[in-house]
Amino acid sequence: KLMKVFLTRRIPPEGMKILSAAGICEVSQWDSDEPVQRADLLKGVQGAHGLLCLLSDKIDAEVLDAAGPNLKVISTLSVGYDHLAIDEIKKRGIRVGYTPDVLTDATAELTVALLLAAARRLPEGVEEVKNGGWSSWKPLWLCGYGLSGSTVGVIGLGRIGMAIAQRLMPFGVKRLLYSGRTAKDYAAEVNGEYVPLDTLVSESDFIVVSCSLTPETQGMCDKAFFSKMKNTGVFVNSSRGIVVNQEDLYAALSSGQIAAAGLDVTTPEPLPTNHPLLTLKNCVVLPHIGSATYSTRGIMGALSAQNLLGGLQGTDMPSELTF
Ligand code: GLV
Ligand code: GLV
Repeated sequence: KLMKVFLTRRIPPEGMKILSAAGICEVSQWDSDEPVQRADLLKGVQGAHGLLCLLSDKIDAEVLDAAGPNLKVISTLSVGYDHLAIDEIKKRGIRVGYTPDVLTDATAELTVALLLAAARRLPEGVEEVKNGGWSSWKPLWLCGYGLSGSTVGVIGLGRIGMAIAQRLMPFGVKRLLYSGRTAKDYAAEVNGEYVPLDTLVSESDFIVVSCSLTPETQGMCDKAFFSKMKNTGVFVNSSRGIVVNQEDLYAALSSGQIAAAGLDVTTPEPLPTNHPLLTLKNCVVLPHIGSATYSTRGIMGALSAQNLLGGLQGTDMPSELTF
């Protein structure tokens, strides 16, 4: 008898192919590129043995109860799993698959691009070319900050943080500071200095947030944080929006407390088009596209399908979250 799986969205075809080739499950799907409504999610999961979800789906006790006792596996098409109520999932003996590693390079590249865009004011420059603001080559126009000789601080030197550091070092970065729960042996590869968060914040020219969202990191970048940053400092976040207090960031950017910010993640997502941050020239906001390369999304689709199948069959998953 075929097992029932529910997919909360259209996923890359690489994943769909793997699911149908396996021949062990009957797939029902929220067949759209837009998020499933809560009521449709609660209905869709009923009786499911497997659930494939995205980071925009909150999987909590209510969803798990709606699914019922068949549910063996949740496979998320993301490396982050802060949208999953892990305690509730664990209590019910459900396995979890996710997509680490395969998106590390794409996300690190995007973060570097975002850092440079914010530091060198690329969106402003593009805008000036289009609106006629480009009147001549002007010595003091559209100046920003460069990486050469700078100090970079990485908050959360995990897989992605390390890949960002590796890409930034060749730009001539002088010091690479990092903070987090523990010092990392592999930080030596990027000459990383493990420092307290306060030291990192006050000494860095560029701060990159690449930690996971936890109770400790939620709201970590607040008024006190920004007030310790250099006035020439550039702040970049490609982890989760809620790590940042956006009102405090707005105040820091609009008052000149810090120079610029680049955000690939916000609270909420999507950020309303009338949000105050979007009125600031020194704030570059992207729509959470860290892992968005064609190839990476295809691989994520395949991996999430393989994780789902492993969970359904009770065999190894290529990327199982251990908790
Ligand atoms: C993206 O933010 C992810 O968690 O994969
Ligand atoms: C810039 O284009 C320069 O020639 O300095």
